[in-house]
Amino acid sequence: MINLAIFGAGRIGCVHAVNAATNPSIRLKYIVDPVASEGRAQLAAKTGAFVADADAVFADKTIAAVVIASSTDTHAELLDRASEAGHAIFCEKPISFDFATVAEVTEKVERSGVACMLGFQRRYDPNFRKVRDRIASGAAGRLEHIVMHSRDPAPPLRSYVERSGGMFRDQAIHDFDMARYLLGEEIVKVYAVGACLIDPEIGAAGDIDTAMVTLTSKSGRFAQMVNCRRAPFGYDQRLEALCSKEVLYVRNRPRDEVVIADVNGFAAAPPMNDFIERFAHAYSEEITAFVEMIETGKKPLADIRDGLEAQRLAEAAIVSMRSGQPVEVDPSWRP
Ligand SMILES: NC(=O)c1ccc[n+]([C@@H]2O[C@H](COP(=O)([O-])OP(=O)(O)OC[C@H]3O[C@@H](n4cnc5c(N)ncnc54)[C@H](O)[C@@H]3O)[C@@H](O)[C@H]2O)c1
Repeated sequence: MINLAIFGAGRIGCVHAVNAATNPSIRLKYIVDPVASEGRAQLAAKTGAFVADADAVFADKTIAAVVIASSTDTHAELLDRASEAGHAIFCEKPISFDFATVAEVTEKVERSGVACMLGFQRRYDPNFRKVRDRIASGAAGRLEHIVMHSRDPAPPLRSYVERSGGMFRDQAIHDFDMARYLLGEEIVKVYAVGACLIDPEIGAAGDIDTAMVTLTSKSGRFAQMVNCRRAPFGYDQRLEALCSKEVLYVRNRPRDEVVIADVNGFAAAPPMNDFIERFAHAYSEEITAFVEMIETGKKPLADIRDGLEAQRLAEAAIVSMRSGQPVEVDPSWRP
C-alpha cells in the first residue's frame, strides 16, 4: 500500500485526490491546503484523508509518495522537499514561473533519483494516444504538420491568472508538450503573437487571453497552435495531424451523442464543458501510471524533463511575442 499526501485541494487537486482514494494500491493519508475552505473539508470527508500541513507530511516516515496539485508558485519548493525526503512525485505543470528555478529543480529531482511524473494528462487521453501510436508505428506515414486548438470555455478568475504564470506557461504548455510528443523531436524555432482580446481583467493582471504560435521542429516540420481563454460553446480542444498517408483528427467530445432533428434542422449536444469532464479518463489513467511507476519502475509518459522542455518553448513564445521576432531555441537556450 502506497501512503500518499496530496498538496492542493482546488480544481485539479480534488480530481487527483478522488482518483487516488479509489485506487486499491493507494492510501490517501493527507490533504494539504492552507486555505480552510469548505471544499477542503468535503474532500477530506469524501476521501477519508486527514488535513495536515506540509511539515507534518514531511515528518511522517510512512509517506512514500506525493501529488503536487497546489498553486503553481508552490511547486518548486514542494518538489525540492519531496525529492529530499525520497518520495515518488506526481507534479502538476508548470514547475515554476521562473525558468532558472525550473532548470535547477529539474536537475535536483533527477540527481535525487526519485521517480517523478508530470501532469501532461493529454498524453494519457486515449484519442491523443492513438494519434501518437499511429505516427510512432509508421501506420500514418510521416507526420508533416500539426494544427491544435485549445480554447477554455470561459476566462479564469483574475486571482487564478495572477498565480498562474501567464497563459503560455499555464495553458499553452500542454500544446508545446503535445507538439514535442507527436513530432518526436525537439522544436528549434518559436514564433508567437498574443494579446488580451477577451477579458480586460486578464489584461489588468498583465496576461494575454489569445495567442497563435508557430513551431518549427529540428527536421523542419511545423506545428500551429491557437490558444484562447474563451469558447462560447464550451471546451474547445482539437487536433489535426497531417501525415503522408493519413490525416488524424481529434475532435471535441459532445456531452451526449443524441442528434435531435425536426423541421428546423438537426441539433447536436455541445462539447463537454471543461478539462475536468473532457479529460476525466486521462486523469484517472495518470494515477494508475503513477502507481505503476512506483510499484514497477515503469517510465511515465511525461517526466520532469518533459516539463522543462515544454516550458522552454513557453518562455521562447513570451520572448517572441514581446519582440515580434521568431526565437531560435536549442537545449541550452534560456530566456
Ligand atoms: N494538468 C491539468 O489538466 C491541470 C488542470 C488544472 C490545473 N493544473 C495545474 O494544477 C495547479 C493547481 O491548479 P487548480 O486549477 O487546481 O488551482 P486552484 O486555485 O483551484 O487550486 C490550488 C489550490 O492550492 C492551494 N495551495 C496554495 N498554496 C498551497 C501550498 N503551499 N500547499 C498546498 N496547497 C496550496 C490553494 O489554496 C488552492 O486550494 C496549477 O499549477 C495548474 O497549472 C493542471
